[in-house]
Amino acid sequence: MARFSDKVVLITGALGGIGAATVQWIARGGARLALTDLGKTAADVPAAITAGAAESAFWPADLSQQAEVDALFASVLAHYGRIDVLINVAGFDHDSGVPLEKVTLERLHKNLDTNLTTCFLCCQAAAKIMKEQKGGVIVNMSSLTWRGSPMQFSYSASKGGVYALTRSLALALGRDGIRVNAVAPALIEVESITKTVPLAMWEQIRKGIGGGYPLGRIGRPDEVGAAIAFLASEEASFITGQILEVSGGARL
Ligand SMILES: NC(=O)c1ccc[n+]([C@@H]2O[C@H](COP(=O)([O-])OP(=O)(O)OC[C@H]3O[C@@H](n4cnc5c(N)ncnc54)[C@H](O)[C@@H]3O)[C@@H](O)[C@H]2O)c1
Repeated sequence: MARFSDKVVLITGALGGIGAATVQWIARGGARLALTDLGKTAADVPAAITAGAAESAFWPADLSQQAEVDALFASVLAHYGRIDVLINVAGFDHDSGVPLEKVTLERLHKNLDTNLTTCFLCCQAAAKIMKEQKGGVIVNMSSLTWRGSPMQFSYSASKGGVYALTRSLALALGRDGIRVNAVAPALIEVESITKTVPLAMWEQIRKGIGGGYPLGRIGRPDEVGAAIAFLASEEASFITGQILEVSGGARL
């Protein structure tokens, strides 16, 4: 039997770099996919990423807004009748490289909203449904910056918050048969990062940062998707409250 057959899997940030790679892994497992992203439509979902899925449906939402999260979960429930797995990929560093004295309150709120509020609201909505179902799985997206980063103050705080939230949820929801884990990637090559800098500069960053990792390179989105799919699957049935660093050994 395929890894996710009969499972309804909701994936946020589904059309981003890591999100789309995660969708591919889950689709190959035969899932019934509920995909969501910000400012996109069903027409933006490439057929290639949903290959293998039993079914796929898409809803746009800004997940930092309570009303949009409520509407999303209501739509998924109306369509599929249940949610077995929630994978929270949505997030972004709006403040990368900004020195401490330049971090404004507005930017702090933006990063906390984008990375922690989105995750919190979706976990809260999913927990309600999964408790009634007496089971479910949540995988959250932290970042290796949860350990601290001197150039990503608000982002690392938000991703540390995701890790703490993951542990709290695992403690609170285990008896309801709900597992909650997180992945923490190091630098992963995605378009939303590469396209913000000139190619030559990106090559320098890629080699410079990747060269410092024990495996000697930065990561690929499919390598994060593989780790997420493992935590989301029954193969991880006795794992909860953990953070899995997908980092090529960085910061060991
Ligand atoms: N790429 C990396 O090096 C790296 C490393 C560690 C962690 N991460 C995390 O991985 C996740 C995916 O990032 P990515 O690298 O694929 O970048 P990405 O920009 O390609 O994907 C981020 C996705 O999140 C969505 N999103 C952002 N704000 C949202 C909101 N308010 N509501 C709904 N969706 C929203 C975006 O639309 C986008 O599809 C993020 O949480 C990011 O912080 C990335």
